[in-house]
Amino acid sequence: MRIYSDLAPWFHLLTHPSDYEEEADFIARVVEAVAEGPASTLLELGSGGGNNASYLKRRFRCTLTDLSPEMLTLSRSLNPECEHVLGDMRTLRLGRTFDAVLVHDAVMYLTTEDDLRAAFKTAAVHLRPGGVAVFLPDATLESFAPGTDHGGHDGEDGRSLRYLEWTHAPAAGATTAEVDYIVVLREPGQPTRVVEDPHTFGLFSESTWRRLIGDAGLVSVDPAIVDPNEGEHAVFVALRPPRDSTA
Ligand SMILES: C[S@@+](CC[C@H](N)C(=O)[O-])C[C@H]1O[C@@H](n2cnc3c(N)ncnc32)[C@H](O)[C@@H]1O
Repeated sequence: MRIYSDLAPWFHLLTHPSDYEEEADFIARVVEAVAEGPASTLLELGSGGGNNASYLKRRFRCTLTDLSPEMLTLSRSLNPECEHVLGDMRTLRLGRTFDAVLVHDAVMYLTTEDDLRAAFKTAAVHLRPGGVAVFLPDATLESFAPGTDHGGHDGEDGRSLRYLEWTHAPAAGATTAEVDYIVVLREPGQPTRVVEDPHTFGLFSESTWRRLIGDAGLVSVDPAIVDPNEGEHAVFVALRPPRDSTA
């Protein structure tokens, strides 16, 4: 995916850190409401450009992990005080536990039940007993809707980016959906570039999410917190039981 590799230095013009303040505040309130005992450390799997983390770091000591070295480089520029680690959310093993584990929109790139199961295991083994996992996919099979979106930002360095996101309906019975990104890049002294970047999202029913979360030894919890972005993402919150042997 080019927006996470050679185009990674443009990512904050595609989705700007300031767009994340409200969502990050919601995540922090969920963690603080659900975790048993104080919560001061947070591991993010698939932390991308570090947009959420740029707010979460005010409340938690954040460890940020991603599959893409280029995205980690970008996140380091925004969040130099955070620990950054290269790793796949399906296989990462840091050998320590955290008060909270967050998997935001990066989870959409898991396209099979085995991948999702592996990511839940990663979350579970990195949670201390009484710690909380927050999963925020863009959509489940039930809430997914095909459509188009567009956006982008002007940078302070003269660069500008605009994009079209075209989300296609999945084939009948499919557990994946194709999403085309058309990205237009402008920078001083260069001709305008147009880049096509096709992505594949995984789609799982809510019952599949809850079953696999349970299989990982986590207990689904209703955080009972009003979500200011309700309808724009799905929310799954789970606790590692205070006394278990997940790790
Ligand atoms: C949309 S970005 C995440 C943005 C992030 N929510 C933020 O606040 O900046 C999606 C990220 O998922 C990462 N990713 C995709 N599959 C992954 C995997 N299996 N393990 C870890 N990261 C993954 C990509 O490299 C990309 O950086």
